[in-house]
Amino acid sequence: MKVLIVGSGGREHAIAASAAKSPKVEKMYCAPGNAGIAEYAECVPIGAMEFDKLVAFAKENAVDLVIVGMDDPLVGGLVDELEAAGIRTFGPRKNAAILEGSKAFSKDLMKKYEIPTAGYENFTDPEAALAYLETAKFPIVLKADGLALGKGVLICQNLEEAKEGVRTIMLDKKFGTAGNEMVIEEFMTGREVSVLSFVDGKTIKTMTSAQDHKRAGDGDTGLNTGGMGTFSPSPFYTKEVEDFCSKYIYQKTVDAMAAEGREFKGIIFFGLMLTEDGPKVLEYNARFGDPEAQVVLPRMKNDLIEVAEACIDGTLDEIDLQFEDNAAVCVVLASDGYPVSYEKGFPIRGLEKFKEHEGYYCFHAGTKFDGDEIVTNGGRVLGITAKGKNLKEARANAYAATEWVQFENKYMRHDIGKAIDEA
Ligand code: AMP
Ligand code: GLY
Repeated sequence: MKVLIVGSGGREHAIAASAAKSPKVEKMYCAPGNAGIAEYAECVPIGAMEFDKLVAFAKENAVDLVIVGMDDPLVGGLVDELEAAGIRTFGPRKNAAILEGSKAFSKDLMKKYEIPTAGYENFTDPEAALAYLETAKFPIVLKADGLALGKGVLICQNLEEAKEGVRTIMLDKKFGTAGNEMVIEEFMTGREVSVLSFVDGKTIKTMTSAQDHKRAGDGDTGLNTGGMGTFSPSPFYTKEVEDFCSKYIYQKTVDAMAAEGREFKGIIFFGLMLTEDGPKVLEYNARFGDPEAQVVLPRMKNDLIEVAEACIDGTLDEIDLQFEDNAAVCVVLASDGYPVSYEKGFPIRGLEKFKEHEGYYCFHAGTKFDGDEIVTNGGRVLGITAKGKNLKEARANAYAATEWVQFENKYMRHDIGKAIDEA
């Protein structure tokens, strides 16, 4: 079959690499893709938000299956448009992608269906939000309602900071229309765990766990980024935690969406916090995590295309989802200065080494071809993933492999997965 992947980051590279292993796939396209994805797929210069062009391309090229990797097109309704044109698509429709697209929606859903999450209030009026803060407990968390590239969350230590935050989100519109509404929620503490899952509308099958490192600097310092590295599995995601989440979070979320007439098919990404009062949902995403996909998919034993089709067909209950009994670590190589300002266009050397080593992957995030050469083209440039028999070994392997690649302003964190040493 012919498969089209929509997106251009390390996540989409991991999806393409996993899909390429399927005997079902004869031809793969990626829109717009990147220099690494080009190894598996023909990259076509259509942006992820150019819905008409994507639909026309899929029809003209008789694409059998589209996999939408990114949040923006999912929330914007790309799946609905492709389906309306008769094209099978893996990912939630617009009315279900709202689970990620609106934090106010997802909080109300959790409240209504008693799914554990932080206490909160939603606001559309900045004056009401400011008044609420006067009697609130600190620290407190402010969240822009809509998509904000993972940056729309502000943790405020005191009243002054929080008032400033409300102004930033709702009046200055720092995150654009994402700040037309906002959530103010209770600050929680605990370990964070990411659990991704496949969902077919009724059945949910969770994947192996992972953990992201969102801050730019070592020791969780500096600004929030799209993610500087991940490890999988999380030693903090014990059988006990899993059982709790299965009972009170996972299936309940799928059933709640169905009960609301918003049948969810695709990936639900549960951002969890393991608090003293038990696991609680920090956020939902409606897609694979980036860079969570880069540690989860390489460990998956199943044929990704088969699982995606089962989600579309409502037959996920027949799939025995399995992961390797090992570990993986992904270290992001970024351009120095990310996430603020950085130079790009530097040649990348050493990429060929990954072809010679089993269990090592170099997922491209921000790269492009400049003639025959591959050059840096973004803040996050590459995700270096390595497997190992356990997390310590995977971590040592991943860091060794970061030395194989060179480019001028290469920057990385040195403590990805370090928390696991304390486990
Ligand atoms: P989100 O985009 O909702 O996952 O938020 C981004 C990050 O902000 C999370 O990964 C947490 O580290 C932090 N965060 C979000 N909500 C809370 C909360 N209620 N309490 C403490 N930290 C939070
Ligand atoms: N790594 C976090 C995310 O993909 O949202």
